[in-house]
This record gives sequence, structure tokens and C-alpha cells, in this order.
Amino acid sequence: MDPIHLRAAGVSVVVGFGTGPEQLPRIEHWGGALDGDLPDLDILRAPVPHSSYDEPVVAGLVPLGSAGWLGRPGLRGSRDGRAFSPALRTASVEAAGDGRGIRIRQCDPDAGLEVTTELTLHPSGLLEVAGELTNTGADDYRLEELGVCLPLPAAAAEVLDLTGRWCRERHPQRSAIRQGTWVRSGRHARTGHDASLLFAAGTSGFASRTGHVWAVHFAWSGDQELYLDALADGRRVLGAAELLGPGEIVLAPGESHRTPPLYASYSAQGLDGVGARFHEWFRARPQHPAAPRPVVLNTWEAVYFDQGLEALLELVDSAADLGVERFVLDDGWFLGRRDDNAGLGDWIVDPDVWPDGLTPLIDAVTAQGMEFGLWVEPEMINLDSELARAHPEWIARPTAEAPARGGRLPQEFRRQQVLDLAQPDAWQHIYDRLDALLTENDIAFLKWDHNRDSGELGHDGRPSVHAQTLALYRLLDALRAAHPDVEIESCASGGGRVDLGILQRTDRVWTSDCNDALERQTIQRWTQAVLPPELVGAHVGPTRSHTTGRVHDIAFRAITALFGHFGIEWDIREASAHDRAVLAEAIALYKRHRHLLHTGVRVNADTADPKLALHGVVGADGAEALFALVCLGSLATEVPGRVTIPGLDAGRTYRVEAIDPGDAGGGEPAAHPPFVQVAPPAWLPGGATASGGFLAEVGLPMPNLAPERALLLRLTAID
Ligand code: DGJ
Repeated sequence: MDPIHLRAAGVSVVVGFGTGPEQLPRIEHWGGALDGDLPDLDILRAPVPHSSYDEPVVAGLVPLGSAGWLGRPGLRGSRDGRAFSPALRTASVEAAGDGRGIRIRQCDPDAGLEVTTELTLHPSGLLEVAGELTNTGADDYRLEELGVCLPLPAAAAEVLDLTGRWCRERHPQRSAIRQGTWVRSGRHARTGHDASLLFAAGTSGFASRTGHVWAVHFAWSGDQELYLDALADGRRVLGAAELLGPGEIVLAPGESHRTPPLYASYSAQGLDGVGARFHEWFRARPQHPAAPRPVVLNTWEAVYFDQGLEALLELVDSAADLGVERFVLDDGWFLGRRDDNAGLGDWIVDPDVWPDGLTPLIDAVTAQGMEFGLWVEPEMINLDSELARAHPEWIARPTAEAPARGGRLPQEFRRQQVLDLAQPDAWQHIYDRLDALLTENDIAFLKWDHNRDSGELGHDGRPSVHAQTLALYRLLDALRAAHPDVEIESCASGGGRVDLGILQRTDRVWTSDCNDALERQTIQRWTQAVLPPELVGAHVGPTRSHTTGRVHDIAFRAITALFGHFGIEWDIREASAHDRAVLAEAIALYKRHRHLLHTGVRVNADTADPKLALHGVVGADGAEALFALVCLGSLATEVPGRVTIPGLDAGRTYRVEAIDPGDAGGGEPAAHPPFVQVAPPAWLPGGATASGGFLAEVGLPMPNLAPERALLLRLTAID
């Protein structure tokens, strides 16, 4: 069978077929664009070493023991032990007319199994791969794993993945690729704070702007594994699979199971090149938020559970004066929710706190020209709630029996349990409550939270993370269909549910509960390795961070929040006149630059000192750019030296201006001066003029920023 060649945006994917009767499909190349005609791919047949199978072994699209693959199999399962080793043969190949997609069906009639693999190369060069297994046999097939994987070239020498915890999501870790399997598992029944949003392998020393990188993301909000399997025979794959519990997926004759999509990005321009393919793909989706991302005020770190109309009306006025455009009422508004011990499940406005409902607050918000947003946590239930008292059988548990009949509930986590959305009545009840809330109130935005891990989520006595995750997706899809103008944020104790599965049905993520600007610099940088800035919620928090205790100047907090979807999460009634003036200036800057920030190309410079970061956004047409120079800690040298500014149009001339929003604060001294120097570099007060090529190759001497301070650099092309 002839090979199939998909191409887009400098990427080629070549699918070849074995010459034996099985015609086993395999990816012969996923990497840089191949020009011209392909040679006869038989030249790629590997040698046969001693002590090995007599035919060269390849990692097929579904690597299997029957084809000699001794690594992690692409399909595991059985019919009570039988049909444990399927031998698939290609049954049909369909190529999409636009040269961007292939659908390959492989069958094993004896095992009664059929696997269909779909590959789509999106215009940005992002490759999407998904598999579907169908039981074509006469009895039940118990699926243990259906994975999706791609071959990884020998040139990849290092693996970088992301990990984290509450308030420290998405931090990179890197190691040399050795023989063996490097696996990142998530068993949270949500994506997890430690989830590896990006799982990347690359050439030695690959960095933000250099090196060949092959990276994947698994678009799933439930249990999962990402892996790099490096075999002793030299073959390697990058893969992902849903982690299924025992007996979780049993396919009756005729039934199918589909994998979540694996998104794969290759670039010869380092991690920024990889990220750019994801960003372009996001932005091309029809549901991608098109309207300017409004400035948000969220009440959580302002008032926590201490809600009341009078105080919140003051906050509304204070927010409106600053130029806020969306006011979000966080946790604490519903029945019995005076703290985090009770109330989840009772999605009714608490008359004790809100005797006239939410209408007086919503009216005040909308009268000021702002949108109103509301917090919900629909997948959860407190035992101390009307819902749990009325329907204890709706609480997800590992046993088929209810606790009253000898069963047991999982351990509590933030005093809450999970509502079993795989039960149709429970799902419908929650849908009806949310639908009523959205119908009866003028709500433009839901902050959709999920505040617990679950290591033993069950339905009818069987593991149910898969069913629960799909039920959540159905719930979001149904609500969006009924209320298409309502935007939804994915939050999970901060950034515990950031993945492309949830983002296909939500409009931004709450990136982290940590609003400390220093921590945010790293969290946002790595979240944006996959997500474009407009989907990354970034709020200016209180002067002293509530989660770390650090104190940061308002200008540093504001500059940090500018490079995302900007908001405030602070009781601004207590802000000083200086801080309000700087905040107002930052909001004005954000409004002036949000089109650039949310449509341009994200750039992360590889600086010489890891404590000095330079990151920014260059407009798609190269005409303007906004960068932040950020001092993350004490530098190793007395002066930072010349810092190169990459990503500009080399042939254009730019005017470079430094902007410190702190200057808007007037006479009141900043809590923490931005510079530690006797005199600034010569160019700084008046600005500099240089070509993009000069700025990328030679750079500019940068001022001595104090630790935990930042400066904006605005670049405008003048030719
Ligand atoms: C966790 C979220 O991340 C916070 O922003 C806040 O909404 C709380 N939950 C409310 O309980």
C-alpha cells in the first residue's frame, strides 16, 4: 500500500504500511517538512539484529506483541483471558480530500476486535490522533487499555514534563532519556495539579527558542498516563492512555470505546515553536472567545465567605471606578454555605444572606456596565446539605451498597464528596438547577470549580472516572447549548483541571490559587507553553499574598497579570491611592494592548541568567510587541548586561520604550523601588531605535531591576 503524506505549516507526517499480509500501518516520520516526492520507504527497513524476531520490529500505530513489539502495548484486554493478543490487519484506509487527515481501520476477526485510528494534521501543524476500539466478537471484551502513541526519533535526548501541587502548578522537570519507561500518572479523577500539560522530548539542551522538540498533550480531564517508552532495541514512543480501573470498560458485542485525542506538536524552534502550533490551533476553533477578554474582579480573596449586599455594593462601585468589566461572585452565596463545611449541592440563593436574591447585586453590577459572573461547583456534594439528606444514593462511592446498607463512602476531602453524575437523575437534577440559575438571573459567566481529588470514584460498585468525566462533558455541552452566551471558566482548587478536553467546552482556566506574582511568573509561563494567554486567568492579588505571605509592589503584580486574562482578586476598597492609580494605569494598558496580547505570538527569551526573564507577545504582523523584563531573584552579575529581544521582524526598525506602570502612582513612594542602580542604561529614559535583527542579535543593556520587580518594554515598528 502506498504511504500517505500529510503536510502543514512546516510539518510532515508520513504513514507507511508493512509489506506483509497485515499491511501494518506505522508513522515513518513526524517532524520537519519533507519536500518533493517520497522515496520508496523500503529504504527505511531496519536491520535484523541477533537474538531477535526474524523480521524488523516497528512500533505500529497500535503497537502489539503479535507484531513483535515488546514495549508498552497499544491495546490490552481480553475475553476472560482469551483474545489477549490481537493480531491486527489493515482493513481500510481513507484519506481526507484536503490531504490533512487519515482514518485507518485494522481488524482481527478471530479476536473479534476492530481498531480505527484517526490522524488529523491541523493547519497550524498540530497533529491530532485518536483511536476507537469496537468489539466485533460475540461476547464481552474487558478493556484494560487503549493507548495512542507516536514514534520518537533517536535524536531526542532529554524529556521535559510539568508537575506541581496546589498553588504551584505546572513547573518543569527535565531529565536525560534513558532506556526504560518514564511515566507520569494521574489518579485524581480530575486532571490534577501535577498533570503534565506538556510532555516534551527534544535534542540535547533544547530551550524556549532552540532545539528540535516533539511534544504531546492528552486531552482528558480524568485519570491518565503519559509515557515515554525507550526500548533496549533503540525504538522509542511517546504515548498516552486513559487509566482505567478493573472492569471499568466492558464492551458488549457491537460496543465501542474511543480514546481522548492526543495532540502532538513538533518544532525545530524549541518550546516556543511547539507552543505556537497549539496557540494557533486554539485560536482557529469556532468556539474560541472572540470578544475582548473583560477585566475581571473576583470576590474570593476580597471577602471570602463574608458575603453581604452592602459590602459587595461598595466593591462593585470601587471596581467600576477602576474600569473593571466583569464582577464575579465567588463561593458562599448558596444555601447554608457560610464556610466550606456545608451547602454544596444546594444551588439555591441563600435567603439568610441574600433576602432579595442576587438581583440587587446583579442590577448594581450591570447598571455600572459590567457583566456578572457566579461561582459554582456542580460535581460536588457536602454531607451537610439538603441534597445529601434527600438523595444520599447520589453520592459516588466504591461500593454498590449505600453506607446505610453496609457500603462505605470515600474519605472526605475539603469535607465534600462527589456527586455521581453517571446516575441520570443526579445529572438531570444538577442540569435543571444550573439551567434555572442561568435562566432566572442575568449571568454572563460561570466559574466552575472542582475541589477534590478522588482515588476511588465509583458507580454501582465499579470504577467510574471515565463515565463521570463524560457525564461532566455532557453537562457542560448541554448548558452551553442552552445558554450559548454564558462563558465558563474551568477551575479546580486553582489550576487542577487544565487540559484540552475541558477547554473544548470552557472559555478560560483559573490558573492557580496562588496570586503571588513571583510564583505566577513560572506558573503562567508553563501554562502558556500550551494555552494562549487569553485563556489563562491572571489576577492582581492583595499586597501581601494570601498563599505565600510575600509582599509585592503593585506594579510587579500588575505587570504579571497583564500577560494573561487580566483581573483583580483583592479587596480594592483597602487599596492606597498610589496602588489604585497604578492599577487604573495597568487596566488602561491592558485594554489598549489586549488585542495584541491575545492574538500575537508568545515569545520566551532564553536569557543568560535564569533569574532574569524576558517574555512577551509580538503582533502577528510584527508591527508591535509588548515584553516584560522580570527579575525573579538576585542576579549573579552586577548588571544584567545586554539582553537580546527575539521574535521581532528582523528587517523592520522598532522604537523601544520602557514603561513602568508604577510611575502612575504619583509622589507616593513605591513599597519597593524598581531599580538598584546609580544610573540607568543610556537608552532607557528616552527609548531606543534599532532593527529587529539588531535587537535579536546584539540586544540592549537592561537596567538593574530589583528582585521581584518588572519593567514593560513596548516596541513599535516605525517603517
Ligand atoms: C477554589 C478556587 O480555586 C478558589 O479560587 C475559590 O473559588 C475557592 N475554591 C472557593 O471555594
